[in-house]
Amino acid sequence: MSELFDISGKTAFVTGGASGIGLMASHAFANAGCTVLIASRKGAVCKGAAEAINNELGREAVHGFAVDLASDEGVAAALAEVSSRTDKLDILMNNAGATWGAPMGEFPRSGWDKIMNINVTGVFMLTQALLPLLEKSACAEDPARIVNVGSIVGTRAVGNNAWSYAASKAAVHHLTKILSNELAARQITVNAIAPGPFPSRMMAYVTENEELAALARADVPLGRLGEPSDIAGALQYLCSKAGAFVNGAILPLDGGMSTKS
Ligand SMILES: NC(=O)c1ccc[n+]([C@@H]2O[C@H](COP(=O)([O-])OP(=O)(O)OC[C@H]3O[C@@H](n4cnc5c(N)ncnc54)[C@H](OP(=O)(O)O)[C@@H]3O)[C@@H](O)[C@H]2O)c1
Repeated sequence: MSELFDISGKTAFVTGGASGIGLMASHAFANAGCTVLIASRKGAVCKGAAEAINNELGREAVHGFAVDLASDEGVAAALAEVSSRTDKLDILMNNAGATWGAPMGEFPRSGWDKIMNINVTGVFMLTQALLPLLEKSACAEDPARIVNVGSIVGTRAVGNNAWSYAASKAAVHHLTKILSNELAARQITVNAIAPGPFPSRMMAYVTENEELAALARADVPLGRLGEPSDIAGALQYLCSKAGAFVNGAILPLDGGMSTKS
């Protein structure tokens, strides 16, 4: 069983890997014996997170650098940074994302464009740019893996004033499915996780307010928020031999929210 779930020796790139769900993923991949590249706009934060994990593990497992994935220049820079550290990529986790909230009638176009740009366009453009590196590690016995980060709000029609965010996450789910069709012949699987509420910078306004946190927990049938082990378990499955035949799936990590009646 441990061999079935073994991902040691793989190289993973986690966008937004220094905070929230991305940081949980960076820890999980590093603990599982991967080399992990993490990047976001705040390069110093990425370097700091990498150093902290490396100190815990006692090996240079994680490497952090700065990129802004919302621009063509940023995507090109990401390709250059990743290529300077590895000649093949086993796992791409498209996790970086942002949100914007404003009531109907007050929602600005800038809040629409900014969110679509990083949450959807960034995912597609980065995936496209990194395909040659993913193809170098891809084979029938052990496909290369892309894990996109969708959301419960991409599945459930709840806007919560985050109009562009919800639409962007539904787009991530659909993009995941069409990319899984397109890339299967190259032995690259494309799946998404669709998290419910997890503590993170984006969710701090909820999780750091006891009243809102209680409401968030009450909305989850299992009655709790997501934890690092929930992210680790899903990634270990999707990125190992155990998950090699899973393609085009949107895996709910939401304690049952998506099927709640
Ligand atoms: N937490 C939840 O409950 C929840 C639920 C469902 C889905 N999600 C999804 O999970 C993913 C991670 O979010 P999170 O909740 O962990 O929030 P978070 O802590 O705010 O993480 C978002 C990450 O994205 C990075 N990022 C944002 N814009 C970027 C850009 N233009 N270029 C590069 N990196 C960028 C941020 O780093 P910089 O600021 O340094 O750029 C940060 O590391 C997102 O896709 C989010 O939609 C979260």
